[in-house]
Amino acid sequence: MRISLATAQFVTIGCLLAMTQGIHEEARHPCAFIDTVNITGSYNMGSSLNNSYVHNWTVIPRELVTAYDFIIENGIRVPAKRHLRACICKLRPCVRFCCPAGQFYDLEERSCLAAQEQLPPPPGQSHMAVQLHNGTQLDIELRSLFSVYEETPCDHMKAYTKDNTYLNWTLHENGSIIHRDYLFSKHYCFSPLLIGNSSWSWQPLACAPEKLRFVLGVREWTYAVCLLICIISMFIVLIVHLLCSDMRNSFYGVAIKSYTTCVIFGYALLAHLTLHDPANLSTAACRIIPSFALLFLVLSFYILSFIAFKLYVSFNGVVFTKPMFWLIFGPIVLIAVAWSVYVGFSYHGSRLVFGGDTCWFDPRNWSIMIYFFAPVFVACAISCFFYVLTLIRISDDPDIDAEKSFESLEKNRLKSFWKFFTYTALTWFVCVCSFAFNHYREERSHLNYAVCLCTALHGFAALYALIGKNQQIQNFLRRIEENNDEDTCENSVPMSIY
Ligand SMILES: *[C@@H]1O[C@H](CO)[C@@H](O)[C@H](O)[C@H]1NC(C)=O
Ligand SMILES: *[C@@H]1O[C@H](CO)[C@@H](O)[C@H](O)[C@H]1NC(C)=O
Ligand SMILES: *[C@@H]1O[C@H](CO)[C@@H](O)[C@H](O)[C@H]1NC(C)=O
Ligand SMILES: *[C@@H]1O[C@H](CO)[C@@H](O)[C@H](O)[C@H]1NC(C)=O
Ligand SMILES: *[C@@H]1O[C@H](CO)[C@@H](O)[C@H](O)[C@H]1NC(C)=O
Ligand SMILES: *[C@@H]1O[C@H](CO)[C@@H](O)[C@H](O)[C@H]1NC(C)=O
Ligand SMILES: *[C@@H]1O[C@H](CO)[C@@H](O)[C@H](O)[C@H]1NC(C)=O
Repeated sequence: MRISLATAQFVTIGCLLAMTQGIHEEARHPCAFIDTVNITGSYNMGSSLNNSYVHNWTVIPRELVTAYDFIIENGIRVPAKRHLRACICKLRPCVRFCCPAGQFYDLEERSCLAAQEQLPPPPGQSHMAVQLHNGTQLDIELRSLFSVYEETPCDHMKAYTKDNTYLNWTLHENGSIIHRDYLFSKHYCFSPLLIGNSSWSWQPLACAPEKLRFVLGVREWTYAVCLLICIISMFIVLIVHLLCSDMRNSFYGVAIKSYTTCVIFGYALLAHLTLHDPANLSTAACRIIPSFALLFLVLSFYILSFIAFKLYVSFNGVVFTKPMFWLIFGPIVLIAVAWSVYVGFSYHGSRLVFGGDTCWFDPRNWSIMIYFFAPVFVACAISCFFYVLTLIRISDDPDIDAEKSFESLEKNRLKSFWKFFTYTALTWFVCVCSFAFNHYREERSHLNYAVCLCTALHGFAALYALIGKNQQIQNFLRRIEENNDEDTCENSVPMSIY
């Protein structure tokens, strides 16, 4: 219990940090990012001229200039060095074309192509129909009214259609693009698109968001049920270890209890994330819940490493004292907390690791490998290292007669623990392989039925190895059974079936 209290405190600090950063990110700017230009290095005219800037021979009033600490690439906010940007499109409306004159944006290829020979040439970019403030539409020269840019705001642009036909968007004198009352996104560019076989029409294209859809299908429910099975199994293991008086005072018992607690919390949070649409979670929750889940799961593996270390040490005849236990256990918890806070604030590529489209690792990239499976792998490697050392140690000096009972107790613990560890490692190995397999098949999910099955097996493995194969627990259960038989003469359910 002491462990989880400390953990809770550390994570609370992490949450507070996360929230302050969230507020900071929502600082307001005078216009949309796409309407700004980087004016770093431009001349500031000083206080006599209201601190205006001169950029490319234009005077930009002070109120249109702000410092930005991010840029937007592909519709995604990317942190950048602090720099000044001016709302240049407020001075003179901007018009953006996707491609150089004579080319068009191919929606499938996602790039600019020259029109084929047999087609009519695409319309020129110098003139366009513009609706003036008084309501008349005129074909006017764009450069007389607008600043003209050539760029695609995102890698993937898409056109708006209704009933498979393009809409008639009108460019207004102030730069807005409107159809009926609907204002087109500022993150647009104009491209001529082919209508039928023979005519071109100017269409604004918008950034196509590559969002992950939230699905809650049979697979997700199966996973949630399997997580629940594992949680229940771990809960049984926890209860038995809490009741078993022999285990209560041993460090091994404390470690197993903290392990099961971690797995219970970690899996419960995973189940929560599986069953909830990220859209319905707040931004803070979307970062905090997965950070907690990561914390508990990574910590669980380091507790296993710790147990492996502890077993190795006890075979070397070192008696573990309470301060020693906490001196090693404390830093392990600290490292796990630090890691999960770090991941909670990290960016993978240009996105936050947590809190993008999904509230867990994004299945479209390899972030889960780096931030989750890698530390788990390190923990497993440490455990295996100590296991091998222990085996060497045991084979070196067979049977010290004086401490035979102690030896056999530790040996039994070692066996039961390593059985469990093997199943756990196997489970997670399957998870890693499943992820790689899903990634290879371009499925946008971490889950498949192999993962579900293994999660449930993890719970059963805990029951089998930690309860069924542990002599101390078995003795304890047998004692309960005998007491029950004497007291009530009833046939109690044999709890030693495992
Ligand atoms: C802004 O412009 C300056 C000077 O040209 C350049 O050093 C800086 O990298 C630019 N910043 C961004 C985020 O583009
Ligand atoms: C400076 O700002 C004041 C009030 O905003 C305005 O009256 C004045 O004309 C401005 N001066 C210049 C040189 O732009
Ligand atoms: C400077 O402004 C002119 C027209 O006002 C424009 O053609 C040119 O591209 C601008 N240069 C830069 C670097 O923005
Ligand atoms: C709107 O303004 C334009 C240019 O100022 C002019 O040519 C046109 O006749 C005007 N239309 C109406 C309906 O007033
Ligand atoms: C768009 O405008 C053109 C010409 O003004 C017209 O022929 C066409 O039917 C319009 N399309 C729609 C969907 O309103
Ligand atoms: C531009 O003009 C249109 C039509 O006059 C209006 O609906 C729209 O709100 C204006 N946009 C801005 C940014 O002023
Ligand atoms: C477009 O061209 C294809 C062959 O290139 C022809 O079969 C089809 O009828 C044409 N459609 C129209 C609307 O002209």
